[in-house]
Amino acid sequence: MGSVNHRSSRSLLSPAQNPACTRAHQITALALVAVTFILTRAFDRLSCSSSSSFNPSSSSSLSPPPLFDRGILRWPNRGFGSALALKIYVYSEEEIDGLALLMRGREGKISADDCLKGQWGTQVKIHQLLLKSKFRTLKKKEADFFFVPSYVKCVRMMGGLNDKEINQTYVKVLGQMPYFRLSGGSNHVFVFPSGAGAHLFRSWATFLNRSIILTPEGDRTDKRDVSSYNTWKDIIIPGNVDDGMTTFHGSTLVSPIPLSKRKYLANFLGRAQGKVGRLQLVDLSKQYPDKLEAPELKLTGPNKLGRTEYFNHLRNAKFCLAPRGESSWTLRFYESFFVECVPVILSDQVELPFQNVIDYTQISIKWPSTQIGAQLLDYLESIPNEVIEGMIARGRQFRCLWVYAAETEPCSATLGILWELQRKVRQFHQSAETFWLHNRSIVNRDLVEFHQWRTPVPLP
Ligand SMILES: *[C@@H]1O[C@H](CO)[C@@H](O)[C@H](O)[C@H]1NC(C)=O
Ligand SMILES: *[C@@H]1O[C@H](CO)[C@@H](O)[C@H](O)[C@H]1NC(C)=O
Ligand SMILES: *[C@@H]1O[C@H](CO)[C@@H](O)[C@H](O)[C@H]1NC(C)=O
Repeated sequence: MGSVNHRSSRSLLSPAQNPACTRAHQITALALVAVTFILTRAFDRLSCSSSSSFNPSSSSSLSPPPLFDRGILRWPNRGFGSALALKIYVYSEEEIDGLALLMRGREGKISADDCLKGQWGTQVKIHQLLLKSKFRTLKKKEADFFFVPSYVKCVRMMGGLNDKEINQTYVKVLGQMPYFRLSGGSNHVFVFPSGAGAHLFRSWATFLNRSIILTPEGDRTDKRDVSSYNTWKDIIIPGNVDDGMTTFHGSTLVSPIPLSKRKYLANFLGRAQGKVGRLQLVDLSKQYPDKLEAPELKLTGPNKLGRTEYFNHLRNAKFCLAPRGESSWTLRFYESFFVECVPVILSDQVELPFQNVIDYTQISIKWPSTQIGAQLLDYLESIPNEVIEGMIARGRQFRCLWVYAAETEPCSATLGILWELQRKVRQFHQSAETFWLHNRSIVNRDLVEFHQWRTPVPLP
């Protein structure tokens, strides 16, 4: 239970702090000259404490969960709490015209299965997990959150929609959601699974600037004037590691090898993409070929690594270097936990998931991207094997938090995200375009009651 200290005072306003009581006291004392000091004080304490007790829940039968119990603050379990208690409504493509476009493209040909794979698969996985979730509700009225499904990163990559169409479709979709308008979007949840974050929807700043965005990308500086990531409302999610590496029970695609058997001190197995840090690593590996494996990889052709081959290389070093690429977050960071190398982040602006509960210094290293050179290799070489083993062992415990498994599993990214969402539950929503009256009815600027709002609802 998240209940507050029971030793606290019964009343929020003590008699001495209450001017009305002090005056009452004086009058009482003057009128009752014959009564002894002790009796007066006893009477005073009795009458004042009962009249000054601050208890809004008793005065209004309308307020649902009592925040006060006989003057004692009772912080509700909901919102933080010791158990998950959420109600999430998931919009369906039948209900909202345009959602199908955001999920399957113009011709409706892109399949969810194709979008499940690869580093952006989270946009599909999170949707599918919520559909099966015990926290899903079919009643909008009781929902804490509204999930807006969209596989738009995949759809765009596969040519299913262009940027202009994506933007227009989102605006059309949101106009069909009165509950979006009611909260100003603040209880609506979107997944943007790539480095572009919410920028995939060009006009995100106008429409989604209050909504909860699930994204692996927390960089506030990257190539854009305005960051679409906001610590206080958005949630950093882990990238989508290949399913073959993350199975809970039984075999994995590639299993880790003992530390003493690893060929390299460190590796970087990715395309350089013309990025400074990555190019420096490729150069460094030419100077120190027995310490650092960092070949010049390409997307296609002989210098491309297959899936299994990639993980076979990745597991062959003590440290897996994770430099920034097109954007700050990097899938390699998450992958390294499953081949059991210690990730070394070379991406200064990175933000990591669940930072409120995970101490990343226990399981990883972050090194300045301006110090990529022999000094990095010297430093990594100076770390004793026992220390590396310790980091790997702790990483083995934490890595379940990167796995998009069913919420019935004891640990998963899914549960982490649900907990983060629970911290964002609001009992009350409002925006610049919502108002409320004495009888708790919510109206818009034209004083139209919420149940009469008709779609399309006017958007900013
Ligand atoms: C996005 O679409 C809306 C509605 O069609 C339009 O008003 C807005 O200008 C578009 N944004 C961009 C950046 O094109
Ligand atoms: C959020 O949207 C509102 C309404 O369109 C707008 O006035 C405000 O400037 C936006 N905020 C940001 C940070 O873009
Ligand atoms: C609330 O008050 C307004 C204004 O008096 C009234 O029009 C509306 O019908 C009331 N709503 C309910 C649910 O009683």
